[in-house]
Amino acid sequence: MGSIAIRNIGELTTNDPRSGDGPLGRRSDAGLVVADGIVAWLGASRDTPAADVAIDAGEGAVIPGFVDSHTHLVFAGDRADEYAARMAGEDYDGGGILRTVDATRAAPTASLDRAARSRLAEMRSFGTTTVEVKSGYDLTVEGERRLLDVAAGLTDEVTWLGAHAVPPEFAARRDEYVALLSGPMLARCAPAARWADAFCDPVAFSVEECRAVLSAAKAAGLGIRVHANQLGDSGGVELSAELGAASVDHCTYCTAKGAALLAERGVVATLVPAAEFCTRSRYADARQLLDAGVVVALATDCNPGTSFVTSMPLVIALAVRELAMTPDEALYAATAGGAAALRRDDVGRLSVGHRADLVVLDAPTASHLAYRPGTPLSSHVLCRGEVAWSRGS
Ligand code: NIG
Ligand code: FE
Repeated sequence: MGSIAIRNIGELTTNDPRSGDGPLGRRSDAGLVVADGIVAWLGASRDTPAADVAIDAGEGAVIPGFVDSHTHLVFAGDRADEYAARMAGEDYDGGGILRTVDATRAAPTASLDRAARSRLAEMRSFGTTTVEVKSGYDLTVEGERRLLDVAAGLTDEVTWLGAHAVPPEFAARRDEYVALLSGPMLARCAPAARWADAFCDPVAFSVEECRAVLSAAKAAGLGIRVHANQLGDSGGVELSAELGAASVDHCTYCTAKGAALLAERGVVATLVPAAEFCTRSRYADARQLLDAGVVVALATDCNPGTSFVTSMPLVIALAVRELAMTPDEALYAATAGGAAALRRDDVGRLSVGHRADLVVLDAPTASHLAYRPGTPLSSHVLCRGEVAWSRGS
């Protein structure tokens, strides 16, 4: 693995106050060398040591690679018709999940794999270097395991989401489905996953049902994440605090008391404004969470129903425009926040010794990510110290 020197960086964001100014550890006129997959050196551009390969950032900004800590990348089928219907006034009620379950069950593994890899390649081009991937579109013991195995080919951050919806064959026997989840499905899926997740919402699973599944998953050694309070105040925020979840995701409906609880228990709130944009729902109250001292992450929630979005820059633009986050808060949430949601300290930061996952932007400052919504700004994306994507290649 060769070394790479990046010179002429107009604005370097390290997310490490020891490596630069302010909470985001900023430096101007900077240089950086990556070797053996990690950041080996950073300092003034003119002092940058030689390396095997040189990249001139052209006074552009360099940021840590995005950590997209909430995605549903493994699925088959298309639900563009639902999007159009929602824009014409229909509400999202979670019902479409079962359409994707039908299509996914019928899809050969190779085509699921191909489609997920192509979505990941899109993400990479926008600057995502770490991604979490969930199952949840099969809802049978063997089928959920199949989706986890596909996910494991893409990332280490694999999440079992058997509690995504009650499948049609269990419609009249939901207690039996919860027992299947907590017993045989968990036993088959736990060895293939790092995390367990459940959809705790009025249209999905109750607090009691999620508690049963997630406590069993925790006892089996999985870390916990919760889809909570997307469509109503389901009690999922309190449940995630009770279970010591790493992250509670959506939080569209969250009380001040709930926010205080998350801060106290160190549960990250992962906000997914692209899902709110694509379902035309109200947005989460990011200011309430940030002001309560909660660590906030931003993620795409990429899925065929509520957010067929692969771009973290779009999520940042929405967070600034719609959640009243500052450009710096949004950038931090999309990088270090995502790392915190995955309990990772090797990614989301760019100081010496951290993983060399970074994006060179064709823009003078990272604030252009919010300022220029929809414009692809990456010029180079480095993943573990290697060029994973570059413009024109
Ligand atoms: O995170 N809320 C549950 N799951 C997805 C949507 C799934 C779907 O509609 O296919 C979400 O928004
Ligand atoms: Fe989701």
